[in-house]
Amino acid sequence: MKRDLTVLSVFGTRPEAIKMAPLVKCLERTAGIKSVVCVTAQHRQMLDSVMEQFDITPDYDLNLMHAGQTLTTITTGVLEGLDKVLNQVKPDVTLVHGDTTTSTAAALASFYHQVAVGHVEAGLRSYDKYSPFPEEMNRVLTSRMATLHFAPTEKSRENLQREGITEGVYVVGNTVIDALHQMVHDAYVFRSEALKTLPLQDGRWIVMTAHRRENLGTPLEHICRAVKRLVEDTPDVHVVYPVHPNPAVRTTVEKILGGVDRVHLIDPLEVEDMHNLIKRCFMVMTDSGGLQEEAPALGKPIVVLRTETERPEVVEAGLAMLAGVEEEQVYQAGMRLLTDKELYHRMAHAVNPYGDGHTSEKIAAILLQYKESLPEND
Ligand code: UD1
Ligand code: UDP
Repeated sequence: MKRDLTVLSVFGTRPEAIKMAPLVKCLERTAGIKSVVCVTAQHRQMLDSVMEQFDITPDYDLNLMHAGQTLTTITTGVLEGLDKVLNQVKPDVTLVHGDTTTSTAAALASFYHQVAVGHVEAGLRSYDKYSPFPEEMNRVLTSRMATLHFAPTEKSRENLQREGITEGVYVVGNTVIDALHQMVHDAYVFRSEALKTLPLQDGRWIVMTAHRRENLGTPLEHICRAVKRLVEDTPDVHVVYPVHPNPAVRTTVEKILGGVDRVHLIDPLEVEDMHNLIKRCFMVMTDSGGLQEEAPALGKPIVVLRTETERPEVVEAGLAMLAGVEEEQVYQAGMRLLTDKELYHRMAHAVNPYGDGHTSEKIAAILLQYKESLPEND
């Protein structure tokens, strides 16, 4: 193929943006590739914060987020919005990331236009249709539609192979490590006013997040009660919890953890503050997918607030403990890390399985190879 390869990157939520941003920047500087960005704004403020941080101005913005959005309204919004964008841009490849509703709907819209889909962070599986929900099904469906599969680890490649997907699969690491390399600095000064007021030099700090759909309601209540007990029983421990803006998350968290001594509930942080906060904390407790990759890469043990994980690499490497979502289990897992120095040391020194921070360049090189495989007169 003689002309530039037009690559349309589509994303809409905070984690997709954080992991696609280093790739978009890399594509922008790659000769032979024309990079076009479309955000769906499934998230608004949390997405815009990442775009600003990485200095990316989208070419298209579907501006979808609205109060009370549902999986159906997001899906139909992405399908309809992208129909127009795909007609205008006529990309050679659409890049989607991971497992959100934005990514699967964008893959479907591209498939309807017979545009090849490149799936970044392909091949993760929990093998439970309803956990994480709807992400597990989103990933499986996207894999069926994709032409290029950028798997972060050998394990994710094997998952794809088990489903008969062997063509166009590349093990490249995870772009989240690229993002971390750009963000984390020893002399970093926090920008968040809320962080500036916290006594981060005193005691041990736990960074906590929890937002997953399947944890809303009772599981999140259990998690919050366990964390409250951990803090009450360990006088040198503080928790900083940037709370997801979803009202279903906020209501529960504020009810149980609001006003608790040494628990600091704050608004979502800019990604650079967040990454540098993880770097300085004692440990992480989370149900987030991205944090399961970041914390170990920064040498921080992690308690996973879920019953399963699609990131078994971190558990097998001894970097994470899968705690479940029952109050007593979460409390015990947290307590072990706070009291067992030998365990803590081991977990803080295991090797991160997600690559060397050059994943974006590897993906760009594979896209250029793909360009060469397309017909000469195209
Ligand atoms: C989505 C993803 C999930 C990912 C998470 C990251 C799906 C199905 N789920 O879930 O995989 O882990 O994003 O955070 O795609 N909100 C705001 N401002 C924002 C963002 C969200 O107010 O900037 C509130 C809105 O009330 C919104 C709600 O959060 O309705 C939920 O957002 P939504 O994207 O529907 O689901 P998440 O739980 O964030
Ligand atoms: N993150 C952030 N600010 C916050 C909380 C999280 O920038 O206040 C980052 C975090 O470091 C990680 C990503 O957001 O890179 C994870 O996003 P989230 O937990 O929303 O989604 P998931 O990874 O579970 O899909």
